[in-house]
Amino acid sequence: MRKKHWAKDMIAQRTDCVISDPGELRGNWKQLAGDRQIRVEIGSGKGDYWISMAHRYPDCLWIAVEKDESCVGIALKKCLENTTENMKIINGDAAEIEQWFAEDEIDVIHLNFSDPWPKKRQTKRRLTYGTFLDSYRKILKPDGLVIMKTDNAKLFEYSLVSLGDNGWHLEEVSVDYRREPHDEDAITEYEASFMALGQPIYRAIWKPSGGKQV
Ligand SMILES: C[S@@+](CC[C@H](N)C(=O)[O-])C[C@H]1O[C@@H](n2cnc3c(N)ncnc32)[C@H](O)[C@@H]1O
Repeated sequence: MRKKHWAKDMIAQRTDCVISDPGELRGNWKQLAGDRQIRVEIGSGKGDYWISMAHRYPDCLWIAVEKDESCVGIALKKCLENTTENMKIINGDAAEIEQWFAEDEIDVIHLNFSDPWPKKRQTKRRLTYGTFLDSYRKILKPDGLVIMKTDNAKLFEYSLVSLGDNGWHLEEVSVDYRREPHDEDAITEYEASFMALGQPIYRAIWKPSGGKQV
């Protein structure tokens, strides 16, 4: 995707939903969420899932995390006129997530069609690599969830092994999630394109098993 030069300005202007210094809210996201669940989508791309789910579930605070400035700009453009107060977005790298959220602060982490990073030397960048999982375990509540969807069989297999090896409990797994209708869950931009090609969608849900081992 070509760099969107207008994205920087748009991000600076959209103080209604862009969290420019998430570290300032660390431990205090409840100020925004109240009694609502806090759900974080990591790698939100152009924002379709975040926008759709925030509208469907106003009883949750939806926080999108996306490192690519142009993607964040496009997501903000898409919701110029229909941003709701439960939509927040962070333009940053999830490697820093522990600096933004305190222990036990998050209810659900969504990983939608994460970059597969197929080469061995890229393994550490996968969002289900051990260091990311350690961060997720810290910021999730003891009964929190990681929910992953992907088209990529190798990344899915890697993730099942990685979470298993790191002591997470597999709650649900599907190797063809969209075979049945799931109106409760929005279709992401990538998901729509893979569904159009007839590819199966893999999905799994994990809990940090046996409570937390911090
Ligand atoms: C393949 S796209 C999927 C986008 C969207 N979730 C979808 O399903 O349509 C993956 C996105 O994750 C973002 N991403 C990858 N690693 C990230 C990280 N460490 N922190 C934040 N975003 C990341 C990329 O910039 C990219 O926009």
